[in-house]
Amino acid sequence: MFIRTLLLTLTAFASCSGNPENTIIQLPDMEQDSGITLVEAIDARRSVRNFTEDSITLPELARILHSAGGITSERGFRAAPSAGATYPLSVFVIAENVDDLEPGIYRFLPGENTLMTVKTGNFLHDLALASLGQRCISSAPAAIAIAADYSITTSVYGDRGVMYVHMEAGHVSQNIYLQCTAIELGTVAVGAFIDMQVADLLNLEENEIPLYIMPVGRF
Ligand SMILES: Cc1cc2nc3c(=O)[nH]c(=O)nc-3n(C[C@H](O)[C@H](O)[C@H](O)COP(=O)(O)O)c2cc1C
Repeated sequence: MFIRTLLLTLTAFASCSGNPENTIIQLPDMEQDSGITLVEAIDARRSVRNFTEDSITLPELARILHSAGGITSERGFRAAPSAGATYPLSVFVIAENVDDLEPGIYRFLPGENTLMTVKTGNFLHDLALASLGQRCISSAPAAIAIAADYSITTSVYGDRGVMYVHMEAGHVSQNIYLQCTAIELGTVAVGAFIDMQVADLLNLEENEIPLYIMPVGRF
């Protein structure tokens, strides 16, 4: 997994001259905790589908990404548990109204705490269309998407690895829910979408499947 992340990063740095695709963006310091306790966040968490037109900030986005898939130990372990620490999930940002971030689709690279540009432009409308027209996606300032490469985990655990990947996506999603609640943003876990359309939009690798979309915004 470490080697895969390293290769992605090297590819990105190698091809970033003058090409918006694969450009690397360093994430800033994260938004600090608002002081809401975990107990309060669990009790307050609710799916939010109606967002204001306000932007979210890059430090807020950095905090959410860190909670989703950030590195939290010197050994490279991450915020959410992973069967055998195989880490089959990738986290994407579809940004349209994030302060100091050009609208576009980005892949989060947890090892470096960076974003790698997939493509620039406004894509939330298309993402909503691929998600049965769900307005919670098109009306949000940004969305997080979680995609899986099952082979990373099934190569260790066989068929049982498929179940492990789904369990892990649940952990990551819940971290995003609780983190959003703690910094007073709203989100909802969206599972209803056309896999192929979302995969095309995110330029996923052939062996990657989208599992969750989570629009994020103020409410
Ligand atoms: C696997 C899964 C898929 C979901 N898919 C959608 C979805 O496509 N659209 C949506 O608006 N909510 C979706 N939800 C959110 C649920 O509707 C929501 O969690 C449920 O109504 C309970 O409300 P609460 O999250 O506020 O407790 C999904 C939740 C899960 C766990």
